[in-house]
Amino acid sequence: MSDRYKLRSYLPKDKQSVHQMIIEEFGHDYLDRSVWKFRKSKPIEKLGLIVLDTFHLHHEEIVASLQYWPIKIAEYNSLLLGPLVVRDHLKGKGIGSLLITSSLKMIKNSGWNFCLVSGEPYFFPKFGFKPVPENLLWPGSIERQRLQYINLRDLYLEKVSNKPLTTLPDIC
Ligand SMILES: CC(C)(COP(=O)(O)OP(=O)(O)OC[C@H]1O[C@@H](n2cnc3c(N)ncnc32)[C@H](O)[C@@H]1OP(=O)(O)O)[C@@H](O)C(=O)NCCC(=O)NCCS
Repeated sequence: MSDRYKLRSYLPKDKQSVHQMIIEEFGHDYLDRSVWKFRKSKPIEKLGLIVLDTFHLHHEEIVASLQYWPIKIAEYNSLLLGPLVVRDHLKGKGIGSLLITSSLKMIKNSGWNFCLVSGEPYFFPKFGFKPVPENLLWPGSIERQRLQYINLRDLYLEKVSNKPLTTLPDIC
């Protein structure tokens, strides 16, 4: 990835620009997706990352971002990955991969149990994401193959229970 693009932590001042980018890239309908049922509180600020285009010295522009929201899978404190958004004209340059690999370093072995994502089935497996077990319940309609997860510590979602696993938003 070119030096022109710089990764940094999300700051509160980024909120409006990130929201604007999400709407411009995904459209207003995106907010109607079932995944937003988990995003009623606030994203976890310290886990947020953004990528800046530093080409214009005095006007660095946010071109990609990644946020996490707290959820519970059964009784397990977990993370919901997303939104992950990369400006359309910059897709395929490694920016999405940089965001995922950088943030996985932060969230692995840091107290969270699982990380869940509703995302592209072609993109997430290379980082270790697997399809969720069949007993994981999801509140609303979704293309089931989008639902993927990764274990963040020595506990395996596929082994925690044979009973239905509820997924709920959590308030941090
Ligand atoms: C998924 C997404 C974040 C990837 O961002 P990105 O910056 O383009 O990612 P990268 O450039 O690091 O990698 C893209 C990879 O996907 C592959 N890819 C892209 N489109 C593909 C397709 N239609 N089918 C198969 N593979 C595809 C690329 O070949 C590349 O693979 P490689 O790393 O093996 O070369 C971006 O495409 C996006 O914003 N998608 C829509 C939103 C979304 O699904 N967000 C995630 C959940 S919130």
